[in-house]
This record gives sequence, structure tokens and C-alpha cells, in this order.
Amino acid sequence: MRQTAAATLLLTFVFGSAALALAQGPDFVPERPGGAGDDPALRNRDLTGRSVKCPRVRFEHSTDPSAPGTSAYYLFADPWAGYAHGRELFHREFAAADGVFGESGRTAGPVLDDGSTRLASRDHVSACGLCHNSPWRDAGAGITIPKNGGTGRNTPHLFGAGLVEMLGWQLRLDLLAVGDRNRNGFIESTESRGVPAVVYNVPPGEPGRRPLEFGRFGDGNGDSIPDLNPILHMIYVDAAGKRIPWARSLSVAGVAGYTFEVQVFGFGQRGRLPVPSTLRGFTAQALDTHAGLQACDPTLTEEPRGDGLARVSLAGAPQFMSAVPRDRGNVRTPGGISLDDPDRDGHLHEITDGDLDLVEWYQMNHPRPARSERTPSVQRGEALFARSGCAKCHVPDWRLPAANPGAADYTRRTRGDRRFFDLETEPGPDGELRGRLKRLYDRKDGPITRRFGPVSIPDIYSDFLQHDLGPETHQVQYDGSTITHFRTTPLWGAGSTAPYLHDGSALTLEEAIRRHGGEAATSRRAWRALPAADREAVSAFLRSLVLYSTEDLPTDLNDDGRISPSYRVAGQDTGRERFNPEWLFNTPCRIEGRVRAPDGRWITSHAVTNLREAYGMHLPRRLDRDRDGFPDVLKR
Ligand code: HEC
Ligand code: HEC
Repeated sequence: MRQTAAATLLLTFVFGSAALALAQGPDFVPERPGGAGDDPALRNRDLTGRSVKCPRVRFEHSTDPSAPGTSAYYLFADPWAGYAHGRELFHREFAAADGVFGESGRTAGPVLDDGSTRLASRDHVSACGLCHNSPWRDAGAGITIPKNGGTGRNTPHLFGAGLVEMLGWQLRLDLLAVGDRNRNGFIESTESRGVPAVVYNVPPGEPGRRPLEFGRFGDGNGDSIPDLNPILHMIYVDAAGKRIPWARSLSVAGVAGYTFEVQVFGFGQRGRLPVPSTLRGFTAQALDTHAGLQACDPTLTEEPRGDGLARVSLAGAPQFMSAVPRDRGNVRTPGGISLDDPDRDGHLHEITDGDLDLVEWYQMNHPRPARSERTPSVQRGEALFARSGCAKCHVPDWRLPAANPGAADYTRRTRGDRRFFDLETEPGPDGELRGRLKRLYDRKDGPITRRFGPVSIPDIYSDFLQHDLGPETHQVQYDGSTITHFRTTPLWGAGSTAPYLHDGSALTLEEAIRRHGGEAATSRRAWRALPAADREAVSAFLRSLVLYSTEDLPTDLNDDGRISPSYRVAGQDTGRERFNPEWLFNTPCRIEGRVRAPDGRWITSHAVTNLREAYGMHLPRRLDRDRDGFPDVLKR
């Protein structure tokens, strides 16, 4: 049903907000805030407490954590509630009233080589979590979807995605440190020409250090494009370092040089089509392509220095102009609501910058994958993996330096680990994974201060380069053009994410390995030459790189050195102590407890009875009395 903003206002005026809420009824909203004590005709319920609970109210962006209910408040004054709100945005099934869809059946994305066919179809799923859905309710791996070509693209998991994003920025700095000799912020067309673009996974002197070859700076082969690995997306600039938006090569008039972003996300595209290299950019694009929800976001749209970089997000991630969303906010109401409505569905400003702050926060902090038991065969398998040359591309370990914002040399201005927690996992004596929460912030009263320290990233298994593995992995796109290069898939989590390869065409790990030709042919030969028992050990090693349900992970939340079998929160026994962010809010969620279910059984209801206070729905900047999805403070 199309319901314009004006119609909502009119309805509200005629019937009053309470009447409107009743008129919509629980059938019109996807969230399930209710418990056993609620009237199911008025509130959808979920006694497991797993569903999205809060009604859809857009978040107001702010940089001031003392403004309760804004995005800055949730990131820094109640960060676990911010994480949970971001998770709700990721898993929420957006509804008609939120403006979901609008151009179903159309195609989306950049055009392929034929100049006309587009990369993907659009408006097909109402939630991120319906594709990224295994494990369920985490940012997991999932289905294969129509994209690029008839063979499709498989959905990767986002465990540890914040670390991947940070690696991308660090690689950019490290590469610029080699190529931008005069340190003027970009690489002149002839500067460093022919110089190998080599950087390293860990600092000098640390074990496991390997050179990573990103090609050569400058254009040596005469195609007017720097001879760098296609994982780098080029940004061509003029003599003052300003981006020339239409330039696609060094030979375009006015181009004096280039800089780049390192596209650590996505399997890879052809023709140097940009793929967003930040979680925020990826999210804005995914919301539009998959769900028909356009974000209006100055952080992604404004280019303060004209150099190809957009703003730095509230969470601390520098953004790029390659990911500008469609809703530019060119025409706005006096209250700041964008009237652009790019999909013309009558729903305005469908996603705010505050929403993006939160869903970025969730993904950036999402726990990384785990390792199950390191049995003798797993250990042997890992050694054989290295010996077969797999680790040349699937580089096991990385390390990022601490933040150093004041460095005189801009390529040394590292940003450190911007996450606010890390979840360390370890298999217990019976093999079951257990978690230990490591806080990466300090807090007296008031907002948290993140430490921005160094971070080790063991067991990720990627060089973040694109390689040509030969015809058995090439993807012929809709228009007949062929994608030859794919990013080395980080293998963390691979034990839990069948099917494999960019198109999900390999149903087993062994089949994925068997399909490695091209640059990986030698390595495949070494693997093939192994006796069956050794190949099985390699597989055992890969199977030990696992995902897990974060919410169910037995975890020592309160740092008392044990995992309580009956963890008490707000006076209620919540069962085994586990990683549920709701227990860590400023006002922890209180569950309903023992109730008699309709089938006569007694169960523990995990429905939350203090939802408004815990999630902050009562805060002035969250209140939405007329239920139009905008907080009342954002007046039209
Ligand atoms: C229709 C299924 C689908 C939906 C819905 C979806 N994704 Fe994805 N996602 C994918 C696929 C497929 C890829 C790989 C795309 C590629 O590289 O071609 C991907 C890749 C990603 C990546 C890059 C991960 C990596 O390591 O390469 C991020 C981040 C991401 N998605 C975030 C989101 C967010 C946030 C949402 C919700 C706004 C979302 N996705 C919704 C299918 C989906
Ligand atoms: C030349 C670099 C290179 C080498 C060497 C290499 N790989 Fe890969 N690997 C890749 C790339 C690139 C992909 C992604 C291919 C795709 O998606 O089409 C990949 C994908 C995989 C996947 C699928 C992961 C997933 O989630 O889809 C597995 C498993 C894998 N490699 C294991 C191995 C093993 C085991 C070896 C050693 C025998 C090895 N690789 C050697 C580059 C390499």
C-alpha cells in the first residue's frame, strides 16, 4: 500500500495517533515487542525474545553523546544498546510504511561492458538478515543471488567485518607510503613509475611477515591505467589533488595523477567498477539495491577537500565518494527531511545518517569467526596448507598499528582499532566454544573512550589481492563479458559457510580447492599430490574455522572468571550466561520469566518487559507520537 507522508499527516490529524496505531494493528508491523502479558491483538509477541522488538523510528544523527537518543548517544553513551539497535536495523524486515521497495522488477547497479545491461536486479528482500542469515540473527553467510551474471553471487558472512574494513584503510596508507614519494597526498602520473607496490601483513621483525605484491605504480604497459592490482579502485585527480569525477584513466585531459581505495569487500567486479570499500557505503548501497530504501547521508555525500574522500563516519571510518547514495538531499523541508524520493514511492528520507551510524556500528563491532578444537589433524592440516602454497594467497595473520593521528607524515596517521569490544573464543574441554568479552574502552561516568590500540588479526587467511584462478572460476556476466579476477576469500569462518566460491557453485571445500587453477595451479598441484589422509587433514583444518551464534555463545560477561549456569539480570534468572548485548545496556533488559504458554507448558519467556526504558524509546529524540517513522523532533 502506498501511503504518502502527507496522507499520514492527514490521518493523524483526523483520527489522532492512538486511533492510527489501532487502525494499523499488529499485522502492519514486522516487530514483535510483546510478551505473554500483552494482548496479541494489539502487540505482536515473541516469547523467545529473539525477534526485532522496537518499532521503526528513524535515528537522528548527532556528534554529541549527551543528546539522549541520537546516534552519538547510542554509540558512545549506551554502546551496547547502539550495537543492539544496529543489529535490529540489519535484521528488521522493512515494511511498506517504511518505504521498502518501490522499483521491483527493475535492474540496478552499474552497467556492464555492453553499455546497457545492468549488474543486478533490485528490490527483492526486505532485510539484510534474510540473505546474511546463517547463523540466524547474526551477520552470517547465506544464499546465492542473481548478480553480475546467470551464475550469481553467494552471500558472504560479515563476522569480523570491522577488522576487514580497517585493513583496507591501512593497506591504502601503506601503499601510499611507497608510491607517494613527495607526500603531497596523491601519486603523480610519472611518480614512482615502475616501482613495485609491495606492502606487508605485519610490521618488521614479527613472525609470519610476507611481502604482498600489489603490482607496480604508474602505467608501464601503455593502457593509461596504473599497473596495480584490480582490488584498488583508482581515483584520478588534477594537479591540485582534486578528484576529476569523469576521469577513468591517466590520459583524460587535466589528470595529473591518482590515488585509490582498497576494495576489501565484495568478490570482485570487472572494468574497475567501484565496489564500496567501507561498511557504511556497502550498507547504503545494499539497502537501496536489495530493499529499495535510499539513504540520505551527508557523511557519504559531502567531499570536504574534493579529493575523492567523503567524510569520516561517527564510528571513525573514512568514506569515499564512490559510494554516494541516490538520495542527495538536494531539496529539503525546513526540518531537514529530504524530498528527493529517488524511487518515487512516496516515502521520504527512507534511511537517515543516524540509521547508518548504527548499522555501521553493529557490523564494525561484529565478533570475528572462531576456531574450534586444534586437534592433531587440524594442526597437521594447517602445516600442509602452508606447505602446499595456499598461505601465499590465504595469508594467515595480520596486524594493525595503534592510532597515531598526530604523525607529521600523513601515511603514518594510522587510525587504530575503532571497535569497542572484542569477543575472544576458545573451545572448552568438551569442544564447545566459550567466549570472553574484552572491552576496548574506558569509562568513568558518561560516554566511553575507545582505546584505538593496535590489533592482531590472526587466522583471517587472505592477502586482500585479486587473483586469476583460471577458467574454472571465471564468471561470464549477463552481457557476455568475463570477470577473471577475484579477491582471495578470507577463509575465516569457511568451516560454516558452504557453498563456496563467488557463485556458491562449489558445494564442498574440496570442490572449491579443486577449482583453483591459474595463479593457484602450482598450489593445487601440491594439494592434489598429497595422500588422501593429508588432503583430509587440510579439510579438517578448514572445517575448524567456524562461525557460531553470537547470542548463544556461553560467555563470561561480568568478568568474574566463570560462566554462570543461571545468570541473573534485573532480578530474573536468564539461564546460562551468554553473549546477549541486551544484558549490557545502561538499563539492562528485564525478561518476563516463568509464564504459562498457550499449550499449557511453563516456559521462561525472554520477552522484555522494560523495552521502552532499556532501548530508550521514551527518550525525547526517539519519541514518535504520530507513528510516522520519524522522531517527533524531526519536524517536517
Ligand atoms: C539479496 C541478498 C542480500 C541482501 C538482502 C544483503 N546482502 Fe550483503 N551481500 C550479498 C552478496 C551476494 C554479497 C557479495 C556481493 C559481491 O561481492 O558480488 C554481499 C556482500 C556484503 C558485504 C561485503 C562483505 C564481504 O566481505 O565481501 C557487506 C558489508 C554486506 N553485504 C552488507 C549488507 C547489508 C548491511 C545489508 C542490508 C542493508 C545487506 N548486505 C543485504 C547479499 C545480500
Ligand atoms: C593464487 C592465490 C590463491 C592460492 C595459492 C590459493 N587460493 Fe584459495 N582462493 C583464492 C581466490 C582468489 C579465491 C576466490 C575464488 C572465487 O571466489 O571464485 C579462493 C577461494 C578459496 C576457497 C573458497 C572459500 C569460500 O568461502 O568460498 C577455499 C576453500 C580455498 N580458496 C582454499 C585454498 C586452498 C586449500 C589452497 C591451497 C591448496 C588455496 N586456496 C590456494 C586464491 C588462492
